[in-house]
Amino acid sequence: MPLLQARLNLPMPDWQGRSAWVIGASTGIGRATAEALQARGARVVVSARDGAALQDFANSRPGCLALALDVSQPGTVAAAAQAVHTALGAAPDLVLYCAGYYRPLRATAFDLEEMQKHLAVNYVGVLHVLDAVLPMLLQAGQGHIALVGSVAGYRGLPMSLAYGPTKAALNNLAENLYLDLHPQGLGVSIINPGFVETPLTAQNSFRMPALISPAEAAQHILQGWARGQFEMNFPRRFTRWMRLLRCLPDRWYFASVRRITKA
Ligand SMILES: NC(=O)c1ccc[n+]([C@@H]2O[C@H](COP(=O)([O-])OP(=O)(O)OC[C@H]3O[C@@H](n4cnc5c(N)ncnc54)[C@H](OP(=O)(O)O)[C@@H]3O)[C@@H](O)[C@H]2O)c1
Repeated sequence: MPLLQARLNLPMPDWQGRSAWVIGASTGIGRATAEALQARGARVVVSARDGAALQDFANSRPGCLALALDVSQPGTVAAAAQAVHTALGAAPDLVLYCAGYYRPLRATAFDLEEMQKHLAVNYVGVLHVLDAVLPMLLQAGQGHIALVGSVAGYRGLPMSLAYGPTKAALNNLAENLYLDLHPQGLGVSIINPGFVETPLTAQNSFRMPALISPAEAAQHILQGWARGQFEMNFPRRFTRWMRLLRCLPDRWYFASVRRITKA
C-alpha cells in the first residue's frame, strides 16, 4: 500500500449494517460497486435515469431500493436525496457519485453542445448532489462522499477535449471537499480508474491497455475505502505510468503522449 495515501479517511472495511447511495448504478462501475457493497451487507440505494434497470437490480437484492433521477435535473436529485434519508431513517454512510458521460472529441471538431453535456453530467451533477446531501451529512457529523474521476483528468489527452476537463475539475473539487469536510468528521475520496470494460468505453475503437472488468474495479474501490485512501487509481500496472507522465515537464509530456497514442 502506498504509505502516503493511507488513512486520510476513516477506514471503511466493514459494510454490515451500513448504508450507501450509489448514483450512476444502472450499469458499469456503479452497478458493480453497488453489487459488491450489497454483498458485504450494506443497505444500498441505487440511482440513475434507467428506472427499469435499477428496479431489476433491486428486485433480486433484499433491502435494496431503486430511485430514478437525472443528475442534470436538480429537482429530481433533491427529491431522491430526501427519499434516501426517509428510507434509511438517517443520512447514508456513503454517497458514491458514479454517473458519467463520454464522447471522444477534438478541438478541430469543437461541439459546444457536447462540451456542455459532459459538464452537466460529469461535474454540475455532482454539485446538485452536494447541494442535496451536504446539509444532512454535516448535521450527522459522519459519512463519506466518493467521486469517480478518471486518469483522463490528470493531464490533457487526445480525444479528451470534453471529458478530460470535467474529470480534472472533479479531482480539484475532491481536494477542496476533503480540506473542508475532514475536520467536520466526513470522509472524501476520489476514484481515478484506468480502462474498465463498460458501455462507456464500448465506443473506443483503439486497444485499451490494462482493461479490467467492472467487478475488478469495484474490488479496487472497496479496498481503497477499507484502507482509508483519499485517491484510488487502478489498475496500478497502467495508472503508475499515467502518474509518471503527469510529473513530466510540458515539452516531454506532449512529445510522450503523441508518441504513445500516435495522435
Ligand atoms: N469505463 C472506464 O474505463 C472509466 C474510466 C475512468 C472513469 N470512468 C468513470 O466511471 C464512471 C462510471 O462509468 P462507467 O464506465 O461505469 O460507464 P456506464 O456504464 O456508462 O455508467 C454510467 C452511469 O451514469 C449514469 N448516468 C449517465 N447520465 C446520467 C444522468 N443524466 N443522470 C443520472 N445518471 C446518469 C448511467 O445511467 P443511466 O443511463 O441509466 O442514467 C450509468 O449508470 C463515470 O464517471 C466514468 O466517467 C470510467
